[in-house]
Amino acid sequence: MSKRIEVNDLNVYYGKFRAVEGVSLEIEPRSVTAFIGPSGCGKTTFLRTLNRMHEVTPGASVEGEVLIDGNNLYGPGVDPVLVRRQVGMVFQRPNPFPTMSIRENVLAGVKLNNRRMSKGDADDLVEQSLQGANLWNEVKDRLDRPGSGLSGGQQQRLCIARTIAVSPEVILMDEPCSALDPISTLAIEDLIEELKQEYTIVIVTHNMQQASRVSDKTAFFNIAGTGKPGKLIEYDDTTTIFSNPSQKSTEDYVSGRFG
Ligand SMILES: Nc1ncnc2c1ncn2[C@@H]1O[C@H](COP(=O)(O)OP(=O)(O)O)[C@@H](O)[C@H]1O
Ligand SMILES: [Mg+2]
Repeated sequence: MSKRIEVNDLNVYYGKFRAVEGVSLEIEPRSVTAFIGPSGCGKTTFLRTLNRMHEVTPGASVEGEVLIDGNNLYGPGVDPVLVRRQVGMVFQRPNPFPTMSIRENVLAGVKLNNRRMSKGDADDLVEQSLQGANLWNEVKDRLDRPGSGLSGGQQQRLCIARTIAVSPEVILMDEPCSALDPISTLAIEDLIEELKQEYTIVIVTHNMQQASRVSDKTAFFNIAGTGKPGKLIEYDDTTTIFSNPSQKSTEDYVSGRFG
């Protein structure tokens, strides 16, 4: 299931503003890659190019290639809806559909993708996805209650269950713990460690401890100043980025000297 990502010379724009410049990197399957860097350096923007969410913003555009197991997401005739099924996304704030039950929330992406399925198959998928998100035991007796009744940490795991229910190959997470308490954060980090057995995971985080706890590789992005494009400064094994980076700005950032 898990797939390899290769990005070649990607430039990302909002209208004429180049928000991210010249990014090339390769991400191995069954790994966790952390994107770090100061606010505004383009982490979210770049992340959203990996499943063609960026172009949903009016005027937004992308130059360059993103290959998933060798297939360019931006190639002619590629359907962005299929891309987003293959490359799922979890957002900063848990966003379960408030009027839907827990069960309906898990199935929401599957229904959108128009898959017809029997009640029994749907039940199995709900259980399997909630198990996969480490939430099943907490909610199995209240699947028909609203998803909005769960705690923040549970809601985020519900969103992860919704993401994995469509069987993606890659999961993108944009600061998934920034709205959560420390206990829920650790629960999500444990979950990421398990999900890595099956998926390629990319996570944006502001939390340096989190990056060093969960990721195999770390990409440090930076901007030279306001209005300048974000660039990938250094990309390496997480232990190298945190203990022996080759760029001074990486060292300054990971040691808390700026950002
Ligand atoms: N919808 C948008 N329209 C125009 N500019 C945007 C939009 N979203 C983000 N930007 C700009 O793109 C740059 C990168 O932002 P972002 O990707 O959100 O950074 P980060 O996630 O690293 O904090 C910033 O200069 C930001 O103001
Ligand atoms: Mg961001």
